[in-house]
Amino acid sequence: MNTAPHSLPPQAIELMPHVNGARYLRMQRGLAGFGARTDGGVSREALTSVENEARRWLMELVHGAQYSWRVDAAGNLFLRRAGRDNALPPVMTGSHIDTQPVGGWLDGAYGVIAGLETMLALDDAGVQTRYPLEVAMWNNEEGSRFKPGAMGSSAFADPSRLDEYLRSTDADGTTVQQALRSAFSAMQAAEMVPLGRPVTAYVEAHIEQGPVLEAANHTIGVVTGIQGVRWFEVVVTGSSAHAGTTPFANRQDALLSAARLVVAVHSCAEQYADERLRVTMGRFEVAAGSVNTVADNVLFTIDLRHPESEVLEKFEADIRRIVESNGSPCPATVTRVMDRAPTPFDARVIDIVEAAARHSGVPFQRMGSGAFHDAMYLADLCPTAMVFVPSIGGISHNAAEDTEEEHLVSGVKVLAAALMALAM
Ligand code: GLV
Ligand code: MN
Ligand code: MN
Repeated sequence: MNTAPHSLPPQAIELMPHVNGARYLRMQRGLAGFGARTDGGVSREALTSVENEARRWLMELVHGAQYSWRVDAAGNLFLRRAGRDNALPPVMTGSHIDTQPVGGWLDGAYGVIAGLETMLALDDAGVQTRYPLEVAMWNNEEGSRFKPGAMGSSAFADPSRLDEYLRSTDADGTTVQQALRSAFSAMQAAEMVPLGRPVTAYVEAHIEQGPVLEAANHTIGVVTGIQGVRWFEVVVTGSSAHAGTTPFANRQDALLSAARLVVAVHSCAEQYADERLRVTMGRFEVAAGSVNTVADNVLFTIDLRHPESEVLEKFEADIRRIVESNGSPCPATVTRVMDRAPTPFDARVIDIVEAAARHSGVPFQRMGSGAFHDAMYLADLCPTAMVFVPSIGGISHNAAEDTEEEHLVSGVKVLAAALMALAM
């Protein structure tokens, strides 16, 4: 952390040409092979056997006496590169290797491989940094299999969260604790280290997953913070009945009632007429789920995002009013399952990322993040910022997610220079 704002030490600038684009792309495509789909997407949800295979493959990827692998009780995996003073807390980078049920090849995987390429570029340049460096593979960032998202990084930042997380179940009733067993055996070669270790600084590279950079023709986003997010589960209770015999007036149809709630929540969001408000009902589970039975139970989710806490608060009150007024014949309840306030990043680390972007010679801009990231929780522990690269068509959480190769490589160079400035 020696860098004055707006300047970049020569050693950081000199590292950029050591980033090897062909090697980086080979590793990035190699990781995409784990869970690869015929449509170009990747299905590699957290703590599945294919994700464990990917962890094993990653641990074979880098060699040298300067490296060691570490794991913690939350299933986070770390590659550590020794520094000159190994008593200092590490400068960290990384992201996640889990994907959505049907995800793209870059969401999360980009930041992990960009971190590994940075380590190999340092090897090629013959550099030993003062601070040790670590590349983190944060467990279960997506939250699609086990709630909440950013599970590994949030347990790292606050270990008191872990007990509850270990009890979180997937749709088949498997707990995180059970799923972690096979992950730990895949990572046997890694040394167990405590959660909540001090970290000197954190910089994460990620694809933007939205349309901003592409529309502006900018290669790099210097990320200044992450908007707030709240997740809710709504349960609507009705009563099973025969589809052929039960008159409408006698029904307690949980599906119909839940569908009306979905529309009511969405209409409420539209009335805000706020371009920055995001409200998504993405999961809808119906029981009994039978063509000729009136549904007796529905669970659906609400994902709420906004850069201002006051708006999150106000919209949550609206959700509660809408759901709780759904009395007879199908009462409904709402539970908040994730809550994260907007996260501003550190001014000094933002400046360093911006200086790295400027020295890389590609067009860049400052921007906020619409998606959440592991960096959101690292920001609670240490000075943090992020590097974005454009997403083609703004598409993400979709098999078609992609980024121009030259943009990916530019992002790695900016990440490498920023890490070098922080760790030298
Ligand atoms: C991350 O995957 C998010 O939902 O923002
Ligand atoms: Mn991600
Ligand atoms: Mn994602």
